[in-house]
Order: sequence, then C-alpha cells, then structure tokens
Amino acid sequence: MEKVLVAGGAGFIGSHLCKRLIALGARVLCADNFTTGAQSNVQELLANGRFELIEHDVARPLQADIDRIYNLACPASPVHYQRDPVSTIKTNVHGAINMLDLAKERNARILQASTSEVYGDPEVHPQSESYWGHVNPIGLRGCYDEGKRCAETLFFDYSRQFGVEIKVLRIFNTYGPHMQPNDGRVISNFIVQALRGDAITIYGDGSQTRSFCYVDDLVDGMISFMKSPSDFTGPVNMGTPYEVSMMELANMILQLAGGRSEIEYRPLPQGDPKQRRPDIRLAREALGWEPRVSLLDGLKETVAYFRKTLSA
Ligand SMILES: NC(=O)c1ccc[n+]([C@@H]2O[C@H](COP(=O)([O-])OP(=O)(O)OC[C@H]3O[C@@H](n4cnc5c(N)ncnc54)[C@H](O)[C@@H]3O)[C@@H](O)[C@H]2O)c1
Repeated sequence: MEKVLVAGGAGFIGSHLCKRLIALGARVLCADNFTTGAQSNVQELLANGRFELIEHDVARPLQADIDRIYNLACPASPVHYQRDPVSTIKTNVHGAINMLDLAKERNARILQASTSEVYGDPEVHPQSESYWGHVNPIGLRGCYDEGKRCAETLFFDYSRQFGVEIKVLRIFNTYGPHMQPNDGRVISNFIVQALRGDAITIYGDGSQTRSFCYVDDLVDGMISFMKSPSDFTGPVNMGTPYEVSMMELANMILQLAGGRSEIEYRPLPQGDPKQRRPDIRLAREALGWEPRVSLLDGLKETVAYFRKTLSA
C-alpha cells in the first residue's frame, strides 16, 4: 500500500487530493498548519483507518514513514499570502527544503504544487514551460511568486545533486467546492456576492481574461504526473486553455446563482496580469492529460457547494 504525505492537505486542492488518494487505496498522512485550510475540509476522511491528519508547519522539519509526497502547503490567494509575507516565503522556501530532505531520506518521490505565478505578468501568450517569466521581485506578490520560483530551483537542485525523484507542476487557476468564501479569488468572490445579492465587483473594465480548471481535472493530472516515468520531472503546466472574460464569468455566475446583483467596477490591483493562459501541450503529450469538465458544469457544482455552506 502506497504511503503518501499530502502537505497542505486540509486546504482546497489538498482535500480533494486526499479524498482521491484514499479512494484509490493509499494510506494518507495529511500535514497542515490550518492557516487557510480546515479540518472540516477532510471531515469525511477522519474515520478512515488509512487517513491521518496532523497539525504541522512545513517550515519545520518532519519525520514520517512515507514513499510519496505532494507538497501543497502554502496559502494560494493574494489576500492570504500577503497577510504575512515573510511567513509565505518561509513556507515556500523552508517548506520545500524540509519536504525535499524528507524525500531524500526516505527515497520518496515528491511533487511540488508550483504555480502559473512563476510566469509573473507574462509577455508571451500562451505560456509554455520554456518561458522564464516576468516577475517583479520586490512587489507585493514577490513573497509568493519568488518563493515558488525558489522552491522550483530547490527541487531541480535536489534532483541534480542528490538524485531525488521530483515532479514540478505549474498549476493555473483552479476552482471548485471547498474554496474559501473569503479568499478574494474571482470565482468564489462572484459566487458569494451573487448568492448574497451583493454587488458583483469587477476589477478593471471586465475585459481581462482568465482560464479556470475544475479541481477534479487537476487532481487527475496530479496523480498521473506522480505515476509518470522518473525521468519526466516537468515543469509541466496544468490548467485550461479556454479563456473567459471577467464580464462573461460574472454573467454565467449570475445566471446560475439567480438573484439580482448589480455589477460594480473597481480599479485594477497592482501587478494584476491582464491575461494568462497555459500552453498544455506538454501535459497532453507526456501524460495524455486534458481538462474535461466544462466551465458551466464546474460552476454548477461550485455554486451548489457555496449555496449549501452559506445557508448552513
Ligand atoms: N488554487 C489555485 O488556483 C492554485 C493555483 C496555482 C498553484 N496553487 C498551489 O496549490 C497549492 C494548494 O492551493 P489551494 O488553492 O488548495 O490553497 P489553500 O490555501 O486552500 O491550501 C493551502 C493549504 O496549505 C496549508 N498551509 C499553508 N502554510 C502552511 C505551512 N507553513 N505548513 C503546513 N501547511 C500550510 C493551509 O493551511 C492550507 O490547508 C498551493 O501550494 C498553491 O500555491 C493553487
């Protein structure tokens, strides 16, 4: 039986990953410091004998008997990672070192949840893995973007220097049930505003585009990347290449949530990229991975989740 550590497993993506790994028959150790995650996200797993949840900060070393590690520990939304930027950098850098040291010691394979933010405010569209990015090291997003870039460097150095088996995954915007209502990300913002009948806030004129991947598709990709041949290290992009403008997204959510929210325009925040879209040819070719859930179907699930949690 595979023994898998999911660091950051009580968060949004991590909780879906833990559920899938348990369904696949693995033994799962979920380590989280609960800064943005919560025990309630993995509540249904707590009674399972193959699941263990521990409170742990990845900035400190961890000893565990495991043979696979998924490192997702890091707050993902700007409102959360900018609240304590120094701690965000420590989580990214010290966390990567501690997880890599554990992988090295245990001879375990390790996957890093990296991000499209390593491309910064990109000058090329779509972004392929060979693009080195356009990142402001001293801006407000630097603690996250540069922290994740440094973590990627560490992964490749541990691979070259110590032969650790690494997988570096660059995740683009992902959404679904168990996102937090207050995380400031556009999908959760719009849904919560629409369900509460508040005004929908659009930053800029609403023409800026994003592409959104449903969490189930991402989890499929994470698991098949982890299983891929050891010489396939990535970095590999995962996300959906289908773009939607913020205005179109607001209208879709308004239709699904019902209600009569108005649209309110606000100035664009500093460093907000105008467009971001992944080139996913590598994931398609190397892993046969393809996002399958349409934006409409994924939004239906997500709206249903928020409708239930907000009324509870
Ligand atoms: N959601 C996205 O669209 C997206 C996009 C790109 C990359 N990612 C990456 O995927 C990972 C998961 O993102 P998410 O959306 O689930 O975010 P999330 O904030 O819901 O989950 C992060 C989890 O890590 C935990 N955590 C934070 N700091 C920790 C620390 N020092 N020690 C232990 N646990 C810690 C949090 O409590 C939380 O449970 C993150 O690394 C994020 O950078 C997410």
